Amino acid sequence: MVNREPIGVFDSGVGGISVLRELVQIMPNENYLYLGDSRHAPYGTKSLEEVRALTLENIDVLLQRGAKSIVVACNTATSAAVAILRKKYPDLPLVGIEPAIKPAVLYKPDSRIVVMATPMTLKQEKFQKLMKQYENQAQIIPLPCPGLMEFVERGDLDGEDLKKYLTELLWTVKEEKIDSIVLGCTHYPFAKKMIEQVVGNDVMIFDGGNGTAREMHRRLKVAGRLTDSETKGTVSFLNSCDTEEEKQLCKYLLTRE
Ligand code: DGL
Repeated sequence: MVNREPIGVFDSGVGGISVLRELVQIMPNENYLYLGDSRHAPYGTKSLEEVRALTLENIDVLLQRGAKSIVVACNTATSAAVAILRKKYPDLPLVGIEPAIKPAVLYKPDSRIVVMATPMTLKQEKFQKLMKQYENQAQIIPLPCPGLMEFVERGDLDGEDLKKYLTELLWTVKEEKIDSIVLGCTHYPFAKKMIEQVVGNDVMIFDGGNGTAREMHRRLKVAGRLTDSETKGTVSFLNSCDTEEEKQLCKYLLTRE
């Protein structure tokens, strides 16, 4: 039996479960160890130094618990710390996540694309570079969404409050037709249904979860670290907010349609 150690998945809270779902879909026989730092969330409105320190600390926890590879399933933590992590662990299969602008541009060139993300992700050089790369091919509108991840952290995904928040937030960019929305925070796919209700079904919505999961699969394959198990793997949850409610929310989000 080889390579049965878990794939470590990290997020500032429960949002990275939207990436975990994709990982499980693509590599069902792998074991997973998911770590959410809900006690310190949100990361997106903290200082760069704080996010870096928290991310490094949490990745260490996953490695100490035997993770064979790491998915930084948080756009904010990726933009703040992925370069440092790559330097610190040069031999580790490590994949971060970034807003899926490329698929949105390919879907419709010259279109109007709104990128919803945390204030920190949008401010970082990594995002500025990404936007520059595509600015001649589409109109890209960054939309900071402070407060949105908190709805997901509370498991409040279908309520009137969320609808009101999104209606007010998107009102500013809706005056002209939006062709697509990129969900540049791993919490937001859990609010996708409500976003669709607000902007209408003709707006395409993209997120980076599937691409990130495919990249992890590719990296493990190249490194010869895919499991040889022929049966379904396990998913374990760790959270810095160690309550029964938190555990229930994690399980609920993993299986929610
Ligand atoms: N889930 C995180 C992301 O993908 C951010 C949420 C937060 O902590 O602000 O950016």
